[in-house]
Amino acid sequence: MTAVVIDGKAFAARVRGQVAAHVARLREEHGLQPGLAVVLVGEDPASQVYVRNKGTQTAEAGMASFEHRLPADTSEADLLALIARLNASPAVHGILVQLPLPKHLDSDLVINSIDPAKDVDGFHISNVGLLGTGQKSMVPCTPLGCLMMLRDHHGSIAGMNAVVVGRSNIVGKPMAQLLLGDSCTVTIAHSRTRDLAAVCRGADILVAAVGRPEMIPGDWVKPGATVVDVGINRVERDGKMRLVGDVDYAGCAAVAGAITPVPGGVGPMTIACLLANTLTACCRAKGLPEPEGLTA
Ligand code: GUN
Repeated sequence: MTAVVIDGKAFAARVRGQVAAHVARLREEHGLQPGLAVVLVGEDPASQVYVRNKGTQTAEAGMASFEHRLPADTSEADLLALIARLNASPAVHGILVQLPLPKHLDSDLVINSIDPAKDVDGFHISNVGLLGTGQKSMVPCTPLGCLMMLRDHHGSIAGMNAVVVGRSNIVGKPMAQLLLGDSCTVTIAHSRTRDLAAVCRGADILVAAVGRPEMIPGDWVKPGATVVDVGINRVERDGKMRLVGDVDYAGCAAVAGAITPVPGGVGPMTIACLLANTLTACCRAKGLPEPEGLTA
């Protein structure tokens, strides 16, 4: 079997188009403009690229983009004071603090100082608890993007066996909650899982989010399964730097029914979902109907 390639780039463009159309309606009908504030502390090169892309795509969707770049030695008090200002600002509906933060800053404390209603990353402990109990919450962007692609490809995923490899707070755990919310039978596997190969072979939906280049070979995939590759790993091949996922793409694509490529799969969906979350946060703040198809 040769897998259907799930085109995340095209899907993300569609999501951004839906967001932009809804934003335009908010402006015409209610005189409202959703606003996203992104806070970057320090000069991590990868983070700078992400933040630039976020700013560009936010503006392209017709939303207000506020960028706060702070020096690497910013004190916790100064960062908390900025977040308090953003929490109080009526022009800001979403706040994202780019991670990782410099080591002297307590990430949990900082994230939990964001107003949960503006926490478009879905990392605040309140949102984690709401998602875990099946209540309305802000949902982390990367797992939300994966869920949207799975729903689009399958229609319903109810009753399917889903295996999530990776147990991070940002991807693995919320991904498992979302799959459970859509009535999958969910296993969270990780580096200490016994016979990981056999566990993966039981998956109708296999989500790889471990951060280890090409760790999952084709013979761990059930024939016809859907493989969602969250990994983005930079590796050197034949003297060139390349991006590869957490699965061996060629090996898995030969067995799977559908697969997300790297690049061009899950990656582009993350910022698209950030825009969707900012729009959702704005609608909730104003008591307006939420955008359809853009939430969990
Ligand atoms: N760093 C890498 N990915 C992310 C993300 O999704 N959110 C935040 N806040 N920081 C990140």
